[in-house]
Parts: sequence; structure tokens; C-alpha cells
Amino acid sequence: MEKMPFQPELELRLMTATETATGLGRITTSDWRAGLPALHGRTATLRELRVSDATSLLAMLTSEEVSRFVSPPPATVEGFERFIAWAHAQRMAGNHVCFAVVPVGSDTAVGLFQVRQLEPGFATAEWGFVMGSGFWGTGVFMECARLVVDFAFDTLDVHRLEARSCIRNGRGSGALRKIGATQEGVLRRSFLRNGEYLDQALWSILREDWYQAKAVWGPKFH
Ligand SMILES: CC(C)(COP(=O)(O)OP(=O)(O)OC[C@H]1O[C@@H](n2cnc3c(N)ncnc32)[C@H](O)[C@@H]1OP(=O)(O)O)[C@@H](O)C(=O)NCCC(=O)NCCS
Repeated sequence: MEKMPFQPELELRLMTATETATGLGRITTSDWRAGLPALHGRTATLRELRVSDATSLLAMLTSEEVSRFVSPPPATVEGFERFIAWAHAQRMAGNHVCFAVVPVGSDTAVGLFQVRQLEPGFATAEWGFVMGSGFWGTGVFMECARLVVDFAFDTLDVHRLEARSCIRNGRGSGALRKIGATQEGVLRRSFLRNGEYLDQALWSILREDWYQAKAVWGPKFH
């Protein structure tokens, strides 16, 4: 199974005439399908990907250290441009959203957060994230993660948010644990990377648990 961040299949699925006529995939100006809102934190902003982000994303996300436990990122600027076009089409189709992480005071994208539906209507969804290693341990991840999880539950109407992390990925697992995800089990040999099948942990956050936790830590962080 492919694993976020990234999805190598660059299928551009646009809305069909039937979807438009029935209102499925309807686009209004307040609709995330028409364009993602900017989510502002103290350390970074999450915003829609731009084609011009391709160069910085290539520099930030393709080192061995950053990419070894995620699906292979594009290897060229053009590959990232195709990924960005694919992400826009997926958002328009209502399947998937992808936010760029842009540190405050800069206009350079240094990471990605993705959320994709695992069933029509987004009730169950999966998220993934990746950031350039220069931004690890800075607090940017936690702040952006909270904004994305809020967006998933409040705007996408997700009920259950899943994540998969390689067991060997101590940092990715530590990040999920820190945000409050629950580890549910091990998906044995479920992720093929560099010719080797790796075990992954399945993590989840439930909407009710998130809102309950926010009631406790909300005033501190918001
Ligand atoms: C995942 C990622 C976005 C997290 O951002 P980050 O800034 O590194 O995350 P943080 O530092 O806020 O949190 C990571 C936590 O894991 C802990 N950690 C680090 N290495 C660890 C290890 N080997 N074992 C267990 N925990 C570890 C850190 O100490 C930290 O917890 P703390 O703040 O309580 O000390 C970033 O590491 C990344 O881009 N990694 C590469 C891509 C990736 O693995 N994506 C996730 C796929 S599931």
C-alpha cells in the first residue's frame, strides 16, 4: 500500500458532468474544494501549494534522512510540479487536501501535510506529513499538526483520522504520539521501501477524543 506523504500515481481526476449536475463535488467560493484557506500559526502558515513551491520542496524533502520512511518523493522540479497539479485536481475532486508549510517571515514551502479520504465523504481519512530536517524539533510540526487536525474534524467532517508510521521511524512515531494519536496495532510488512517490506503502526485520532483533549489544552495553545 502506498503511504503518505506523497502518492506516486499522478492520476488527474476532474469532476464528471454527472457530479456537477447532481451537486456532488459542488464548488462554491466558501468550499475547500475551490481552494484551501490559509491556516495561521505563530511559527508557520499552512496554505495551498503553488507551482512555484516545487524548487524548495525538492531541496527540502528529497534527502535520505527526510524521505526514507515515506513514499518516494518526486526526484525533479518537474516531478514536484506534476505532484502539485495532481494535488490541486484531487482537492477539486474532493478526495484529498495538501497544505504547504511556510514558516512565518518567509515565503518558502518547507513541508507538506496531506489528508485523504479513505471512504467517500471523508468520515474516515488518513493524514501524512513531512518537513525539511532543518525544521525538525522547532515546534513548527506540533503547531501545524494541530491546525491540520482541527481542519480535518471541523471542516472536512472527519470522524476518524488514521496515520501509518514505519515502526523503525522513531521520529514519525514520536510526533504522532505527541499529538495524541493512539497506536492500534501493527500492519506487518505493509510498506515496500527500497526493496524491503517494512512493518507499520496504525494510529488513529477520533473526533470526540480530539475535542475532549482540546477542552483541556485549548486555552494554553489557542
Ligand atoms: C515527522 C516530522 C514532520 C515531525 O516533525 P519534528 O519536528 O521532527 O517533530 P517533533 O520534534 O515536534 O516531535 C518528534 C518527537 O519524537 C521524538 N523522537 C525523536 N526521535 C525519536 C526516536 N528515535 N524514538 C522515539 N521518539 C523520538 C522527539 O523527541 C519528539 O518528541 P519530544 O518533542 O517530546 O521530545 C519530521 O520528523 C519529518 O518530516 N520526518 C520525515 C518524514 C516522516 O517520517 N513523516 C512521518 C511519516 S509517519
